[in-house]
Amino acid sequence: MPGRLCNDWAYNLKPLKLIPLDRPVLIAPSLLAADFLHLAEAVELVNQSEADWLHLDIMDGMFVPNISFGMPVVESVARLCHKPMDVHLMIVQPERYIDVFHQLGVHHLILHYEASVHLHRYVEYIHQLGMQAGVALNPHTPVNVLKDIVHLIDIVLIMSVNPGFGGQAFIPHSLHKIREAKELILKTGSAAKIEVDGGVDLQNAAQIIQAGADVLVAGSNVFRAADPARAIHLLKHVL
Ligand code: DX5
Ligand code: ZN
Repeated sequence: MPGRLCNDWAYNLKPLKLIPLDRPVLIAPSLLAADFLHLAEAVELVNQSEADWLHLDIMDGMFVPNISFGMPVVESVARLCHKPMDVHLMIVQPERYIDVFHQLGVHHLILHYEASVHLHRYVEYIHQLGMQAGVALNPHTPVNVLKDIVHLIDIVLIMSVNPGFGGQAFIPHSLHKIREAKELILKTGSAAKIEVDGGVDLQNAAQIIQAGADVLVAGSNVFRAADPARAIHLLKHVL
């Protein structure tokens, strides 16, 4: 399918090189934006909608200034969720909890490049346990730090806001980083998917996909929408 022209002017960027949309776009609603009094409803919505993964943001108040939720919540969610659980660890020394999340039955474990000094070892360990391994990059971290590990990982997560909070505005420079990640993946023959997290909405989703994203995380724009299932549908079919 040919790529479509994208609205780079919206972020005052030079025109993007078009990347044909030869792949499905996956949607990963972020539970962080759900009503915590009604988490079961949020998980059911993900089960029954066109969402592909459920994104779970774990924050420790150290790596990021905020604290979100922890193992007891993930354990309860896991009992209800039929879709792959995509766990984004925003915690210091995330390797301390690889076993625990494995026991909870999560499918993808994403560690921050900035939080772990032995990523290679832990990516291998996550794989040994049968999970998919992802590496997340903060907005200030260049994509090329992944050069020697990208061929081993399943997910490159580009943070398009500073991690810690939902509802922030998309950082336009992230589009360049997505494109760089795509180029790195193509060059190295990596099978990694590019996941984009933070400030994703219907206005910028097309550009994000055109830059090379495979997976869109969306918190506020799903769970704060009047019709979350429709919001998921619209994001998934924006191109
Ligand atoms: C931010 C989290 C995101 C967040 C996205 O630190 O990693 O997953 O939930 O929320 P929105 O889509 O509202 O920016
Ligand atoms: Zn996240």
